[in-house]
Amino acid sequence: DDYELGGHPDFMRKEMAEQPEAVARALRGRLDERFATAHLGGLGLDPMALRAVRRVKFLGCGSAYYAGQMGATLVEELARIPADAEPASEFRYRNPVVDPDALYVAISQSGETLDTLAAVQELRRKGGRVIGAVNVVGSAIARECGSGVFLHAGPEVSVASTKALTNMTVSFAMLGLLLGRVRDLSAASGQRIVSGLRALPAQIEEILTEDARVQQVAKRHAHARHMFFLGRVRGWPVAREGAQKLKEISYVHAEAYQSAELKHGPLALIDADMPSVVVVPHDELLAKNIGTMEQIRARGGPVIAVTNAEIPEGLADEVIRVPRGEPELDPILLTIPLQLLAYHIAAELGRDIDKPRNLAKSVTVE
Ligand code: G6P
Repeated sequence: DDYELGGHPDFMRKEMAEQPEAVARALRGRLDERFATAHLGGLGLDPMALRAVRRVKFLGCGSAYYAGQMGATLVEELARIPADAEPASEFRYRNPVVDPDALYVAISQSGETLDTLAAVQELRRKGGRVIGAVNVVGSAIARECGSGVFLHAGPEVSVASTKALTNMTVSFAMLGLLLGRVRDLSAASGQRIVSGLRALPAQIEEILTEDARVQQVAKRHAHARHMFFLGRVRGWPVAREGAQKLKEISYVHAEAYQSAELKHGPLALIDADMPSVVVVPHDELLAKNIGTMEQIRARGGPVIAVTNAEIPEGLADEVIRVPRGEPELDPILLTIPLQLLAYHIAAELGRDIDKPRNLAKSVTVE
């Protein structure tokens, strides 16, 4: 293990550090500057089949589900096709209407999660078109789907998914770009996304250099018993994934909420002992997110802003900065500091980071 850790204290840390190269691998040979699109040959869908897709549904469990929610936002924004995500475990147990004009995407790092595999089997039985977004080549879900996009994250050992999740989202940005470019997405906008994707590895590298700053924030808040993670639209799945990471590896209770819903109930919980991590992308909703932080501050709640925007001085107790890229790709970058935050809180509390209690890396049983 020592050799495999390559000098890192644990696998989660190693895998977070590997993200720039993992993303570069996912992009390699798939971006096309000339036609401002992406090539995902493994999908096995020609332009006509891509144009016929009327809806996209992402299915996965745990972090893969949150990556799917980020994917749904990306596909809707870039291709203007209705898209959503659902936990594969829910999908398999209800009696879903299988839409023959939809493209279903089964997401799994391991490719062995039973709930996701069962969802794929149910879809195939009912004539749904399902592709995989899988990291492990030759895994059960990859085989059952027969086509899809490989994640190329490399082996992931830590139970908490980091680089695989990042590569899922990067892959869905390429899928959105591809679906968009056979529809209404202009060449100029496509080019903007291609450049934005190319910039990601260096930007992730830059976020990782903020590690000591995030550790400082973590130390100050590690003894909170509960934390809110808030975001809206692009920031909402980011907040959900951030809360999940904190829960799984630190055992601190975290709840993710849509920022605008705060005033409809959870605001009652805000006090000096309830820190809120607010995801603030530099987008058209910036003013709304500033309003959210003001509401929390007015009730005495500590605010940790994770942002690539300029926010008023003194509004947040802590500011964790992220480089600014193309707005559609913000969720990819904003997720990284939340991994670091969960990691450092867990480390501060002395948790077994790679093997959190009660959890398994891949759940292959009911
Ligand atoms: C388990 C892990 C999670 C993971 C989920 C899905 O519950 O603890 O970290 O996100 O399975 O795993 P998969 O291999 O399908 O992506």
